[in-house]
Amino acid sequence: MNLLEIQSSVRQEGSVSRTLASKFIYHWQSHHPETHYHLRDVGQNVPTLITADWVAANVTPDEQKTDDQKAILAESEMLIAELLEADRIVLGVPMYNFGIPAHLKAYFDNVIRVGRTVDYNRDTASFSGLLTEKKALIISSRAGSYAPGTTAGAMDFCVPYLQFILNFLGIQDVEYVEVPYQGMGGEMQQQATETAIARLMELAKT
Ligand SMILES: Cc1cc2nc3c(=O)[nH]c(=O)nc-3n(C[C@H](O)[C@H](O)[C@H](O)COP(=O)(O)O)c2cc1C
Repeated sequence: MNLLEIQSSVRQEGSVSRTLASKFIYHWQSHHPETHYHLRDVGQNVPTLITADWVAANVTPDEQKTDDQKAILAESEMLIAELLEADRIVLGVPMYNFGIPAHLKAYFDNVIRVGRTVDYNRDTASFSGLLTEKKALIISSRAGSYAPGTTAGAMDFCVPYLQFILNFLGIQDVEYVEVPYQGMGGEMQQQATETAIARLMELAKT
């Protein structure tokens, strides 16, 4: 069992996403001691942004790729190999300006590649994700609360995007734990954090 944490908070000190992901993983490992854990910290080490040369290398058939093109894609290949090895994926994702951190978008731009993580069917003009048999958990901290179905929920371009992109990659089993009211202080933050931790402890058993 390989568990990959993809962490996208730019903060180390005081990061709610990091603290709650760590709590989940600690409890997960106590229930699943055979787990191999690996951290991909895109918040600290942002993946290289893709470029025109990257795009050209990506669409060049493997047998025609130059050494330079292989070098350009090396980071992407490494990130994909790591992702393919994972059975369980935990995403620590702060909401930044109603969306995901740019760091995480850079990660997805590197790992979403036809023939590697998704297939494209020309006849039906449709994609199918190759990351089947994997499960994902999104832990998303934010200052507000954006429960699905509420007025504020319509402003959440973070988790609906993540759910879509994980499904697009073939990961259908996606759990989501919202950690609202972070940084607001007081009873509401305390209560929301405790509720999120309790849910994560439940999920760690499954
Ligand atoms: C650059 C930036 C943008 C943010 N944008 C939002 C936002 O649009 N909505 C929101 O509810 N919180 C927003 N926040 C608050 C963070 O989501 C919240 O503090 C969260 O706990 C950060 O995650 P972390 O504690 O893991 O670092 C923002 C914070 C930062 C630093």
